[in-house]
Amino acid sequence: MADTHGIFDIENLGDCNFDNPMRERGFSRFIDNNSRLRFDPLAANEATGDTLELAGPRRKIFFLPGKTRAAIVTCGGLCPGLNAVIRGIVLQLWHIYGCKDIRGIRYGYSGLSEGAPEPITLTPDAVRGIRADGGTILGSARGTPPTSEIVDYLQWHDIDMLFTIGGDGTMRGALKIWQEIRRRGLKKSVVGIPKTIDNDIPMVQRSFGFETAVAKAADAINCASTEARGVRNGIGLVKLMGRNAGFIAANACLASGNANFCLIPEVPFTLQSKGGFLDLLEHRLRGRGNAVIVLAEGAGQDFFAEADTGCDASGNKKPGDIGIYLRDAILAYFRERNLNVVLKYIEPSYLIRSTGPNASDQIFCDHCARAAVHAAMAGKGGMLIGDHLDHFVHVPMQALQGREKRINPDGDIWFSVRENTGQPDGL
Ligand code: F6P
Repeated sequence: MADTHGIFDIENLGDCNFDNPMRERGFSRFIDNNSRLRFDPLAANEATGDTLELAGPRRKIFFLPGKTRAAIVTCGGLCPGLNAVIRGIVLQLWHIYGCKDIRGIRYGYSGLSEGAPEPITLTPDAVRGIRADGGTILGSARGTPPTSEIVDYLQWHDIDMLFTIGGDGTMRGALKIWQEIRRRGLKKSVVGIPKTIDNDIPMVQRSFGFETAVAKAADAINCASTEARGVRNGIGLVKLMGRNAGFIAANACLASGNANFCLIPEVPFTLQSKGGFLDLLEHRLRGRGNAVIVLAEGAGQDFFAEADTGCDASGNKKPGDIGIYLRDAILAYFRERNLNVVLKYIEPSYLIRSTGPNASDQIFCDHCARAAVHAAMAGKGGMLIGDHLDHFVHVPMQALQGREKRINPDGDIWFSVRENTGQPDGL
């Protein structure tokens, strides 16, 4: 059964017959399923515009908290805030709803199969003090066992609601789990919380961990700038994460204000041509005596078009190493021109994602965790928590299919980066 409001309908397990216990605890602010937010407030036709369901506590809920078993799983690469979300879910379930049967699944989806390490029993004591810690107390992993095995596991272990914390691959996996649950006619909820430092999950304005990663990356750019300015013809080259999207690189450049070139996957560039990257770099060095270059790992992948770089366990194609490629190309170029340069290559990669969340991300994680628990308790599933136009909303996992979130080379962010760095169009 679904509420019918357009393409962003959220599926429910059935009627909500129980009073939300929050009422007894003095909470009286409940959100109605009909409270919705326009997806595109600028759309011409207000009457037909698609809308998203607002997140928050429902007056009536589907699950009886004292008889509900919840499980939490963290998947994919690490991200600042995983522990904060785990803690948020546990405290919300325990203290606000009175659900005290919570399992922490070990090492991603692989923990949802027979023979996997025993889940951790999650209690307020078990999550005490972890909010600001990096990593995940549950462990994470890429890849997934067959969906049917996961749903067998959920059935066998009587798990009523599954919180999946991960990126777009995790959400694809969660959608398959949800579809299999529906196919079997089970009453189990699956709710996702979007995580990635890359901030490239479609339909989600901000994924937790991103802000922290940007702040850390900006520190690295500032260090590169100090190094570059400390010598004659100094070049600071910083390679950041961002396989398909350049959000970290672009935003870190904006935060630092010290970058002269920003290279991202969404904007191809040439190396050797007149007006190409090396030509502009030479111009910068001869004019100013130093340069800072920021590079997303997915930039310039056309230089590796022929190379077979393989895939990671999530099925993502591994990018060719553009950092080393560019470093060597820069050194060779200036060697040929007899211009002595001093290049410092900085690759902070895992340093920016294994760190703990900053205060803003901690608050954000807490909001996401609480919204996810409200949704699951109300029997919603096949959905993730999103933030849209400063509101927390329910996003159907299905809506992520066929969409991608990338920097628009004609949009505001890239325009700002170009203003900030001074780099010309098309670089
Ligand atoms: O998924 C986010 C991400 O940070 C990417 O930017 C990066 O390519 C990837 O993780 C690397 O993760 P791992 O080394 O764990 O596979």
